[in-house]
Amino acid sequence: MKYPVTIYGDPLLRKKAKNIEKDDQKLKDIIENMWETMYYSDGVGLAAPQVGFSIRLFIIDAKSGADEEPEMKDFKKVFINPKIIETAGEEWVMNEGCLSLPEIREDVSRQDEIRLQYFDENFVEYEEVFKGFAGRVIQHEYDHLEGILFVDYLSPLRKRLLKSKLSAIATGKIRPHYRIKVSGKIL
Ligand code: NI
Repeated sequence: MKYPVTIYGDPLLRKKAKNIEKDDQKLKDIIENMWETMYYSDGVGLAAPQVGFSIRLFIIDAKSGADEEPEMKDFKKVFINPKIIETAGEEWVMNEGCLSLPEIREDVSRQDEIRLQYFDENFVEYEEVFKGFAGRVIQHEYDHLEGILFVDYLSPLRKRLLKSKLSAIATGKIRPHYRIKVSGKIL
């Protein structure tokens, strides 16, 4: 089942998401539906708050980064209760987009490297370092669990220039090909 994607302006996207209990019975279904929603929407990653669940979970399939980084070809992972322990490396700029902000792409600067503690879908615990494209996408998705969106990093000038587009998004005037949820209504 595909979920509608919660769109910019919804307070849920601004909440700090809650930790997940190991015995959460609904989790398997949620993860399966999130994969379906993400592939249908052509996303690289999807965080649970984007589909209406304020829980600490995101999924990533980074194979679109394989042009530049061949090792991304098989990068398909579920991240549960992730915790960034350390951020390191040089800042670099990448043009980012987000399913909750359709038709906006902006350059965002982030540090290259993160050390992440997380659980997979079987609740096996990992601690790993991610860099490059993977590190980038993880930071973007992790932000969703903290109530942060990539437009928050833009300069005041850039934000001013995007103001009318952002309000068009928040009022459902910009319609992507996937179903969206705008101020409680499914479009
Ligand atoms: Ni996003």
